[in-house]
Amino acid sequence: MDLLVSKVNKRTTINVTSRDIDKILSATLSSSNLWEIIDFSHRPFKLVVETLKELQERGLVVFKNSSIFPTKEGRKFCKRYNVTPKANHGCPACWGRTISLAKFEDFLPRFEQITGNRPEPIMEFDQGFVGPLIAFARIALLADRGDIQGKEVIILGDDDLVSLAAALSGLPKRITVLEVDERLVDFIKNTSEKENLRIEVIPHDLRFKLPLDLVGSFDTFLTDPPETIGGLELFIARGLVTLKGAGCAGYFGLTMIESSLQKWGEFQKILTHKYGVIITDIIHDFNIYDNWMYLLDSIKDDIGPLKEAPKMHWYKSSMFRIETLQDFLRVNEDVLSVELYNDPESLIWTEER
Ligand SMILES: [Fe+2]
Repeated sequence: MDLLVSKVNKRTTINVTSRDIDKILSATLSSSNLWEIIDFSHRPFKLVVETLKELQERGLVVFKNSSIFPTKEGRKFCKRYNVTPKANHGCPACWGRTISLAKFEDFLPRFEQITGNRPEPIMEFDQGFVGPLIAFARIALLADRGDIQGKEVIILGDDDLVSLAAALSGLPKRITVLEVDERLVDFIKNTSEKENLRIEVIPHDLRFKLPLDLVGSFDTFLTDPPETIGGLELFIARGLVTLKGAGCAGYFGLTMIESSLQKWGEFQKILTHKYGVIITDIIHDFNIYDNWMYLLDSIKDDIGPLKEAPKMHWYKSSMFRIETLQDFLRVNEDVLSVELYNDPESLIWTEER
């Protein structure tokens, strides 16, 4: 095992431990599909892929077309290190999201109807969206925490169309969307007008400071940030600057697919130490994303299992809820030099030159 750890550590810049290898091996005992193995491992995409390549070179797993199987040697290795198949004991009623959709189910057909011709995700803005169930699961979560009823809510980047779900629920007093993609700006604006949903849609690139009339104006923000440290900090800082004061809330997703636990740790320190907010909730795998068309074009597909597009939902993020303390930090300045989308842990592959 120690040799395996040091070999994988040489293949990737992401720090790896024997526990990581354990989780990835455990996933290979439960699934032969790469995307499912990544999902089950709860480890960064690039770490899982490099580990699987090392396991294959050492004869512990074998790639057959797009599938991955443990070899006899691999099973023996697992037995020696007490690696057991990935278990699943999540709550089957709420899928581990801890909330009930019962009060929101009636809105689903109308949401599906009005969002049926939504713009497709594009790579330029790292888009990939959640389905209607998750959009309403977010509304149910906000409602459960008292963060939407009669509240002024802002959504920073809305490729998930949560603004439409929020408006259909009739709960918020005001809904504002900041969006950089003109196709989405037009879509949300037009749909809102047609359905009389009164959503305020503002075209805005979050690298630029927010218009002053948005500062300190909202009770709750939602966002789905890109996962470089710079991207995470920028999107959350923009959310925080819109909030009215102490006791306001922010919601966002963070994956284990594009963010190692080291990055989680670094980001959590930024939140608590620099911005003066506290993390009240982290709901594991709350957000499940639909598969997006450009995935295979954006990754390095150098092994067979990476050449076949995922058929199941594999890309998930944990839902964070943060709350502001009395002296939380609000900054509103242009941040133009930040790298939003690419770091060594991001899914997207850029040619090393
Ligand atoms: Fe449950």
